[in-house]
Amino acid sequence: MYVLGMESSCDETSAAVVEMTDGSDGTPALRAIKSNIVASQIETHRLYGGVVPEIASRAHIEAVSRITGEALDEAGITLADVGAVAVTSHPGLIGALLVGVNFAKSLAYANSIPLVPVNHIHGHVAAAHLQEPDLKPPFLAVVVSGGHTSFYMVEDYTTFTEIGATRDDACGEAFDKIGRVIGMPYPGGAALDKLAYEGDPKAFTLPSPAVKGDDLDFSFSGLKTAALNLINQAEQKGETISRADLAASYTHTIVQGIVQKTDKALSTKAKGVTTLVLAGGVAANSHIRSALSRLCEKRGIRFIVPDRHLCGDNAAMIAAAGYFEYRKGTRADTSLNASASDYV
Ligand code: KG4
Ligand code: ZN
Repeated sequence: MYVLGMESSCDETSAAVVEMTDGSDGTPALRAIKSNIVASQIETHRLYGGVVPEIASRAHIEAVSRITGEALDEAGITLADVGAVAVTSHPGLIGALLVGVNFAKSLAYANSIPLVPVNHIHGHVAAAHLQEPDLKPPFLAVVVSGGHTSFYMVEDYTTFTEIGATRDDACGEAFDKIGRVIGMPYPGGAALDKLAYEGDPKAFTLPSPAVKGDDLDFSFSGLKTAALNLINQAEQKGETISRADLAASYTHTIVQGIVQKTDKALSTKAKGVTTLVLAGGVAANSHIRSALSRLCEKRGIRFIVPDRHLCGDNAAMIAAAGYFEYRKGTRADTSLNASASDYV
């Protein structure tokens, strides 16, 4: 079945056609990603150093119809071939989400196609299925993005139990903030990733984002403040600190914190799982990818992380998650609303 996926939760307008089927054991499985068009607004928001919600909504409105047409064309199908429209309904920027939700509602209603609302985070995790179609829950997922840093026990692709999360900022926000302060273009995450290779990861000692104790929570605000203080104090003294050393130390501290809590999760609440999935926009970070890969190798468990183009926001992941929901019977009608929060 062809699923048309739609994503507009933040600063990417995306539409995709994914062909899904039911495997020999009856469980849903990917057949092919037929198209995955992503229109990024990054250049626009870069002028302001971050996402401006009002501008994001307007840009989604301008792009959504064209992007959807491109996704269908590239897949070589028409709306008559689409078995379900899957749309991100939460969480995200409310004005941005509403563009995708209203467009998908109209499309589904006018063409009598079932409409399926999708949780953006479930979408990020479904990207792991696009990567490895034989991947079957249960597994532990660590989702690192611009809005989330969380652990989930994934019972099946529609049933998630959060077992740890950040208490303040998300990992992506922490990367972007320091990136901006040291003069990287928005979003700073990818630029810091590269710069970190040129510096000394032990140059600065920074507070870990792993919250002390046995729980699986994070806090990035102390780390962010400590890095900002370092920069400000150096400026006041008329000194310049090495941006590469700061990028390396900051990245090292974040990676160590994530590894520490993932290791703890695998020994406690996620004990016995045989697969770890890394997902979300920050899953593109090469340092996090290799550190978690090493951890899984040491523990003898399978490690799955989507290719970089499937880590950032895209509609193929929403289409896949939408099919899992569709098979479960999830449907929405024209009363569907968007929600900024994780839970609706
Ligand atoms: O999942 P995503 O595309 O959007 C949200 O759902 O939030 O994640 C965006 C985040 C941004 O903070 C961006 O800087 C970060 O992912 N990011 C990275 C890298 N590539 C993207 N962070 C660190 N290293 C990267 N290579
Ligand atoms: Zn995302």
